[in-house]
Amino acid sequence: MEEHTLDVEPRLLLAHLVRQALGLTGTHLGCDTTNCGACTVLFDGSPVKSCTMFAVQADGHEVTTVEGLASASELDPIQEGFKDEHGLQCGFCTPGMMLSAKALLDENPDPTGGRGSVGFVRQPLSMHRLSEHCQGCTSC
Ligand code: FES
Repeated sequence: MEEHTLDVEPRLLLAHLVRQALGLTGTHLGCDTTNCGACTVLFDGSPVKSCTMFAVQADGHEVTTVEGLASASELDPIQEGFKDEHGLQCGFCTPGMMLSAKALLDENPDPTGGRGSVGFVRQPLSMHRLSEHCQGCTSC
């Protein structure tokens, strides 16, 4: 975990802080209307759309971007799972989806309760929609 201390304009969005001030460009902006979820980061472990939060709201909180999933030597199991199951779509929304999936599995490692139904994971991931930048793979 890296700690950052920055002076920011009160109206700066968290998404812009992450991308522009910190250079963590894995967080994407797909709509700016809080519809697509491409900008999802974890805020104290919970998924939030960083395009709808001010950067100052993150003061004193832990924000995890997709760059924070992998260690220097290996991918996070979520990233491995997306890779193994070809869950990458066109790639634009994938970082946000991985972070939402991580939050879901951190809270409940077996969200289907052994029933194997995708319905149990569909609702928690429903904050992700096609963005205008989507390449139209129709996987999400
Ligand atoms: Fe934030 Fe689409 S860019 S929800």
